Amino acid sequence: MQNFSLKAAKYDLVSKPQEELAEGLFELSLDYLPDTPPALLDIGCGTGHLSLDLASLFPKSLDCLDISKEMLSICKEKLQANFPNIKWQLFENDAENFEPNEKYDAIYCSATIQWFDNLPAFLARAKKWMNQNGILAVGAFGEKTLCELHKAYLEATGRQLETKAKFYSLDKLKSIFKKSGFELEESAECIYTQSFESPIAALKTLGNMGVTGVSKKPLNREEAKKLKESLGTNFSWELLAMIFRGKESSL
Ligand SMILES: C[S@@+](CC[C@H](N)C(=O)[O-])C[C@H]1O[C@@H](n2cnc3c(N)ncnc32)[C@H](O)[C@@H]1O
Repeated sequence: MQNFSLKAAKYDLVSKPQEELAEGLFELSLDYLPDTPPALLDIGCGTGHLSLDLASLFPKSLDCLDISKEMLSICKEKLQANFPNIKWQLFENDAENFEPNEKYDAIYCSATIQWFDNLPAFLARAKKWMNQNGILAVGAFGEKTLCELHKAYLEATGRQLETKAKFYSLDKLKSIFKKSGFELEESAECIYTQSFESPIAALKTLGNMGVTGVSKKPLNREEAKKLKESLGTNFSWELLAMIFRGKESSL
């Protein structure tokens, strides 16, 4: 798992793509929420991009879960400052081991599944946490994400860039979710372009986000030079917002 605790303080400054994704997912999900604000869970809430939107609905309850204490503490500060009167709780836990005490009408998870070790196993568990007719709203980065970085790295080194983050196509995600008992209700996709002042600034920011390489072999001087030369300053993020329901649910 990427160590988000080390990045928490800088996360809000560099996470524009994640913020866009959370916003798109929130908007897409609104049609699927009942008029009476339900019990909500935000998995991998981070510093609260999505949690704050969810809190603005004044839900019956809002549970926010993250594996990083530091990310959670920033989320907590924002919830305390903006929504002191709604019922929210924070859980410092690994989503892949979490056992909630209650069931939810809507479970959200934005910009987080790319870090899971076993997505199908997580989905099998999450299905049991949902009330009948509940939705699972997932924001993910598609496989075209950071294609410029992957291309430049390959050109500079002759090797594929290895990353811990797993980015899937929409079709692949649909198939994984379907096998785990979820049917896609609706999806929306777009490419978000993030621009930087220079290739160095890009690499630094992407590093702070925790999405750049974890290649075992460090770059030699020549490779690093070539990478900086071939790396541009615009980077694509493929944003996928998806609403799923458990298969056995009646609509
Ligand atoms: C890229 S951030 C996204 C945060 C937030 N959802 C947003 O839209 O900004 C990913 C978050 O997932 C959390 N995370 C990663 N793996 C996790 C896991 N197994 N269980 C819970 N949280 C996890 C990280 O600590 C981090 O806060």
